[in-house]
Amino acid sequence: MKVIIARDYKELSKKASSILASQLILKPESVLGLATGSTPIGTYEELIKLHKQGVISFSSVTTFNLDEYYGLDSNNPNSYSYFMRDKLFNHIDIDNNRVHIPNGLTKDIQKECQAYEKKIIGKGGIDIQLLGIGRNGHIGFNEPDIKFEAITHLVNLDTDTIYANARFFKDVKGVPKKAISMGIKTIMNSKKILLLASGEEKAQIVYDTLYGKITPETPASVLQLHPNLIVIVDKQAAKYL
Ligand code: GLP
Repeated sequence: MKVIIARDYKELSKKASSILASQLILKPESVLGLATGSTPIGTYEELIKLHKQGVISFSSVTTFNLDEYYGLDSNNPNSYSYFMRDKLFNHIDIDNNRVHIPNGLTKDIQKECQAYEKKIIGKGGIDIQLLGIGRNGHIGFNEPDIKFEAITHLVNLDTDTIYANARFFKDVKGVPKKAISMGIKTIMNSKKILLLASGEEKAQIVYDTLYGKITPETPASVLQLHPNLIVIVDKQAAKYL
């Protein structure tokens, strides 16, 4: 794995966007795996700048998002679908037909999850998967568990995650209790992974992820086994490295 320590969040975002931009320059028809949460917002802002400067185009890019809350309409401002349009897609030249996010309103979970997996495989797999990390070590919405959940599936969110994400909702009661998430195998099958973490509250989990025991109780620890993992952390998140 390659660990890059950035001065601060701004530098982290610039470095992450440069890696994604070079991916698009080298392969304009790249398949990107995208993430939500506050961590990648700066990276998306930098990508928008690079697009406006004419450095990169998303016109041939395909995207797959990691996850979506179960039961939220894509027009709900708390849905990840809305987040992605607001933070990235509305500001770049992406073809909406090439954007994929699990459908949180599906009536048939199994069909939705299988179809999502099939679409990723049909596009030749994910070239580079962007990841944030939950304080409990979740990636996507793969929560600590007794086993690694392999493919896209319905998740019962941890209480810790519900409270951590309540900041985006009116109150904690509004946070969905379930989500649809790519599985660990789906993520691990990506050709390259770019993991971002910022701030002191992520310092312990970053250490456990990169140097701790590989266990489904720390889902992100499985990334130690990925042959092409790039980690960018700011100084605060790198406190124990
Ligand atoms: C959510 C997302 C994850 C994300 C995590 C961390 O739960 N499902 O993909 O990595 O939050 O969020 P943040 O970057 O806001 O700390």
